[in-house]
Amino acid sequence: MRTTTAGGRDIVVSGMRPTGRLHLGHLLGTLQSWVRLQGQFRCYFFVADWHVLTTDYERPEHVSEFAREMVLDWLAAGIDPERCVIFRQSSVLEHAELALLLGMLTPVSWLERNPTYKEQRAQLSGKDLSTIGFLGYPVLQAADILLYKGARVPVGQDQVPHVELTRDIARRFNNYYGSVFPEPEALLSPSPRVPGTDGRKMSKSYDNAILLDEDPASIEKRLGRMVTDPRRARRTDPGDPKDCPAFRLHQIYCTSEEIEAVTEGCRTAGIGCLDCKKVMIKHVVAALAPLREKRAELAAEPERIREILRAGTERAQSMARETMQEVREAVGIQP
Ligand code: TRP
Ligand code: SF4
Repeated sequence: MRTTTAGGRDIVVSGMRPTGRLHLGHLLGTLQSWVRLQGQFRCYFFVADWHVLTTDYERPEHVSEFAREMVLDWLAAGIDPERCVIFRQSSVLEHAELALLLGMLTPVSWLERNPTYKEQRAQLSGKDLSTIGFLGYPVLQAADILLYKGARVPVGQDQVPHVELTRDIARRFNNYYGSVFPEPEALLSPSPRVPGTDGRKMSKSYDNAILLDEDPASIEKRLGRMVTDPRRARRTDPGDPKDCPAFRLHQIYCTSEEIEAVTEGCRTAGIGCLDCKKVMIKHVVAALAPLREKRAELAAEPERIREILRAGTERAQSMARETMQEVREAVGIQP
C-alpha cells in the first residue's frame, strides 16, 4: 500500500456543503478546528458543491454563489491557502469517476441502513429524495476522502456513520483489487453546542444565527434580545445561568472573572439580563471584527480568490490523478 503520509504528515480531508452563509456555529465547531489542523497535517479542504445537489437538485441556483461566499468565510477565518489545499469538489472530476467505481461495489443495503439517510428522508419530506444521488451521498463522500488517501477526517458527530461507511467501502475495494486505500478515521470536531438567539441550536434555517460578517450594531441588537433564563421575567427575579442559553456564549467568550461575576449577579438579581449580556457581546463583537475586516478586503479582490482556487484545484488534481491512475490499474480498466 502506498503511504498515507506525505512529507511525513498524515493527510486530512474534509468538506463543507455550500447551503448558505456561515455563522458563529460553523466558526466554533468546524473552522477553528480546521485552522488548527492545517498547521499539523497535510490538509485538503473542499467545497462539497455536488453534495448540495443530492438534496437541492430542483433549485440549485444559489450553489455557486454560496460556494464563493463560503471560500471568503474560510479565508477570513484563517484557513490559509499556503498551508492547505482549498478547492471546489466540482472542479476535480476525478471525484465523480471514483464515486462511479466505488458505487459498483457498494451494496445498496449498506446505504439504506445509513442513519443519516433515513433521518433526512423523513425530515425533508417536502423533497423527492428517492434518487440515486441521495442514496449514494456516502459513496460520493467516500470518493472525496479516498481520492486523497485521507487518514483523518474532521467531522461533526452526525457525519461519523459516513466515515465508517468510507472505511467499509475502502476495505471492500482493497479486498477485491489489492491494497490501494487506507481506512480513514473520523476526527471528531469539538462541537460546543452553540445556541442561536432563540435558544435552539444555531442554524440559518431557524433565523437565529449570528453570521460571520454580521456588523457590530446588528450583533449587539440580536444578542441583546437573545433568550435567557425564563425565571428572570422581572429585573428583580433571580435566575440561574445554567438555564440560560445566552450564558453558553459567556462560557465560550468571557474571562473566568467575568463568568464568576455574572453568575453571582444572576443568582442574586444583582445584574439585569441586558447588562449581563453586554459583558459577553463585547467579546463576540471583538472576536468577529478581524474576520469581517479580512472578509471585506478579500471580497474586493475577486481575482485573488480565483487565483487561490485555481492553485488549490491544481494541487488537488495532481493528487487525484495519481490516485486514479493507481485505481484504474488495480481495477484493470485502463484506456
Ligand atoms: N457530508 C459532509 C457534511 O454534510 C460534507 C462532506 C462531503 C464531507 N464530503 C466530505 C466531509 C468528505 C468530510 C469528508 O458535513
Ligand atoms: Fe442569563 Fe445573565 Fe440573564 Fe442570568 S443574568 S439569565 S446569565 S443573561
